[in-house]
Amino acid sequence: MGDDLEREAPAAAVLPLLALRITAGPVELRGITDDLLGPLAELATDIHDRDFMPFTFPWSLTPAPDMARSVAQYHWGNRSRFSAQQWNADFAVFYDGELVGSQGFGAGHYLVTRTGETGSWLGRRFQGLGIGTAMRQVICAFAFDQLDARYVTSSAFADNPASLAVSRKAGYADNGTELRDRLGQPATLHRLLLEPARLVRYPHPLTVSGLAGFRQSIGLDGTTGLGPR
Ligand SMILES: CC(C)(COP(=O)(O)OP(=O)(O)OC[C@H]1O[C@@H](n2cnc3c(N)ncnc32)[C@H](O)[C@@H]1OP(=O)(O)O)[C@@H](O)C(=O)NCCC(=O)NCCS
Repeated sequence: MGDDLEREAPAAAVLPLLALRITAGPVELRGITDDLLGPLAELATDIHDRDFMPFTFPWSLTPAPDMARSVAQYHWGNRSRFSAQQWNADFAVFYDGELVGSQGFGAGHYLVTRTGETGSWLGRRFQGLGIGTAMRQVICAFAFDQLDARYVTSSAFADNPASLAVSRKAGYADNGTELRDRLGQPATLHRLLLEPARLVRYPHPLTVSGLAGFRQSIGLDGTTGLGPR
């Protein structure tokens, strides 16, 4: 972790995720520091129509006046629970320097399973432009190349063709279905699994900063530096 980033984001000294940056061509994934919470929440007020729910937890229905607090509390909650046993690495996604949405990669018992789940969203005006495919290809390459992942999983409801198409384009294979309670109605969730050899890579190479601290914080390369959990 560079000294500059620590000065910019002192919390990154204890939570290296906040100083992690992954760049590939026009795509940049940044650990979500406090200054990004407000702008992300603003984007999150317009992701999808109200009669369609793409998420397994319907957080995107939060009324606009409450969204900033809700988004902040979600990320602060993840920070407070971050441990090598269970972590969520959520990133703010920039495309050509503009904030467009969020890409996540989360895992439980990663040191044993080397498996994590991707999840993502874009502000509505940034959808359908290929950005969702690009950011997914980037996070998967990061997981395999920099975090030694064995598998990356994802899931999407059957009526979410854009998300299913992104997974297919990135190389994920079908991994079964399950029925979920979605706002009181049964809904089919498709599970997807990606192996390193099947990843369809983004054409631009990845540049990563803040990697050493992040790897340590999830228990790769010895001590987590986070204390006992
Ligand atoms: C899902 C999401 C991240 C995908 O990102 P995106 O940038 O919109 O997707 P892309 O532009 O990369 O498109 C991916 C593919 O989906 C296809 N697609 C998009 N909408 C589609 C639709 N309604 N029907 C069929 N295919 C569709 C595109 O044609 C494209 O395939 P192609 O390149 O072969 O034509 C984005 O649409 C989004 O944020 N949606 C709302 C939130 C959400 O669903 N999150 C995921 C929860 S599991």
